[in-house]
Amino acid sequence: MFSHVPPYAGDPILSLNEAFQKDPRTDTKVNLSIGIYFDEAGKIPALASVREAELRVVQNAGARPYLPMEGAANFRSAVQHLLFGAEHPVLRAARVATIQGVGSSGGLKVAADFLKAHFPDTTVYLSDPTWDNHRAVFEGSGLPTATYPYYDAATGGLRFDAMLEALRGLPARSVVLLHACCHNPTGVDLNASQWQQVAQVAQERGLLPFLDLAYQGYGDGLQEDLVAVRTFLDANLSFLLANSFSKNMSVYGERCGALSVVCPTAQQAEQVLGQLKFNIRRNYSNPPTHGGQVVATLLNDPGLRAQWEAEVNAMRERIKAMRSALHEVLCTKLPGRNFDYFLTQRGMFSYTGLTAAQVDALREQHGVYILKSGRMCVAGLNRRNVEPVAVAMAAVLGA
Ligand code: LMR
Repeated sequence: MFSHVPPYAGDPILSLNEAFQKDPRTDTKVNLSIGIYFDEAGKIPALASVREAELRVVQNAGARPYLPMEGAANFRSAVQHLLFGAEHPVLRAARVATIQGVGSSGGLKVAADFLKAHFPDTTVYLSDPTWDNHRAVFEGSGLPTATYPYYDAATGGLRFDAMLEALRGLPARSVVLLHACCHNPTGVDLNASQWQQVAQVAQERGLLPFLDLAYQGYGDGLQEDLVAVRTFLDANLSFLLANSFSKNMSVYGERCGALSVVCPTAQQAEQVLGQLKFNIRRNYSNPPTHGGQVVATLLNDPGLRAQWEAEVNAMRERIKAMRSALHEVLCTKLPGRNFDYFLTQRGMFSYTGLTAAQVDALREQHGVYILKSGRMCVAGLNRRNVEPVAVAMAAVLGA
């Protein structure tokens, strides 16, 4: 019956993470593949603020009916307040349709189905490069994808002029997927003035921006990392925004995230919400309760919220310290080379510039796992492994 079903080639990120788990070199191997924050002890942290919120959820647990298709009301409003500001006119005017997603990937998928149904002739433009799964999600919903210039391999920075030029040439109603902060996989972000220029082009050309905000707090801060959101609101753009709590609350397996669509009017927001609900109903019916209630409890309690912000700040600062430590050892080992991109790139990821063959050598000879593209998850480094990793990288680069 199923003999015609081809084998699955595997996912470039998740399969490598699985290969790491199976690697017998338990004392020396280092996992810098998947986008997960590990603490100084090499563990995925259980944040104190999240644990306290979870205790409260469990203590108050009662009957568990289905949630509405769009998710829990307290979760959705807490997300809106976090992303847009509780008093923002766009919320007072009820112009934002927000659904609780199944992680932000779930939000991307619901959005992709929505776009296919209501913007059937559009193309989704992705940064070159982008998160491996973006293309799969949009193409899986039947939308064609294409790329706009982004990463500059020569400098480890941004090809901003080329990017803007490409956006200027897009047809109206093109969907432009942008990483709101901590670009995955390169760590290369736009600055505030560049976001303003993108907003202006989006407005002039009638583009539909789609912000993916999976790493809020890992760039400059929870509020600071909303610069793209604020810029698009100020420009009065209609846009989509998928956000995640996986990384900044360290709740990966709870699949907590949301999708918000900022619309020109309250009536359009209501209609958009209705169509999102329709897509949710025929996909997974409604989201799960637990993780969303942990997030909502935390965000709606000022004390827990402050504690969480401090914990996010500490994770971000630890990553920055690891970037500096890696940079220092690499500069000592290979003095002729410029590794400053490790300091200018932000968030969990850096593009190392390693070739696929060097990536293989790093894994096979030294047990250091990074993606084939050369993406390294800097958040997997700690005081114990950063020097051996840097020495291994230098050996591979200098070979
Ligand atoms: C990553 O890019 O490694 C993370 O976003 C995890 C994933 O699902 O790919």
